[in-house]
Amino acid sequence: MRLDKYLSGSGMFSRSEAGRAIRSGRITVNGEVVKSPSVHIDENTASVKYGDEAVVWTKYKYAMLNKPEGYISATDTDPSDTGRTVMSLLPPEFTRLGMFPCGRLDIDTVGLLLITDNGPLAHELLSPKHHVEKTYRFRCSVPVGDEMHERLESGIEFSDFTSKPCRVVLDPDGLSGEISVTEGKFHQVKRMFHAVGSEIVFLERIRFGPLELDNSLPRGEWRWLTEAEIAALNSL
Ligand code: URA
Repeated sequence: MRLDKYLSGSGMFSRSEAGRAIRSGRITVNGEVVKSPSVHIDENTASVKYGDEAVVWTKYKYAMLNKPEGYISATDTDPSDTGRTVMSLLPPEFTRLGMFPCGRLDIDTVGLLLITDNGPLAHELLSPKHHVEKTYRFRCSVPVGDEMHERLESGIEFSDFTSKPCRVVLDPDGLSGEISVTEGKFHQVKRMFHAVGSEIVFLERIRFGPLELDNSLPRGEWRWLTEAEIAALNSL
């Protein structure tokens, strides 16, 4: 693989930054300065550094975004979407590398969103066949009593689908708690609460399969997934 492609594929550089970094003489391959962007290197064995910092190319990229309110879970290239997309919170390289949000959170839902370029994995994570559990922290308008709780957990019949049994853990006030569902129907949690006579006023995704929202990640910020998180996702 060409050295400039390797650098931009690491997510650390855009293609033009990669060229500049190489020409600056700060890029080394196996300890030797390389100043030509077109040099071919073995992406599986080469040790590439920018100054003292390792530059690691991986086949697929994975990032976690703590989505704030007011952003659409779509790529910039989707012509049906108007307004700001979550991709505008991320470095422009992400779009160039083909990364996209894995699944959708409503515009006013916040929290954990996986951003990746691994299409086959995203397909599996979102497929109804795989029942990947998603957990949301919620606040609602009317306290959830015993009967409402039972209805939420046992499944609700809608005109277009019946929700699968799920888990709802309530805080003592009955107005907030956590709900874990294994489906991802449009506005699903909001529709479930509406059906039992309450309205969701706050919704935050805190878990997606094996991934947990990193509490140290401020709203609107992102970070790369760790090796352990990537391994957990791929072992589903
Ligand atoms: N359920 C909803 O109603 N909205 C979301 O964004 C996610 C789950």
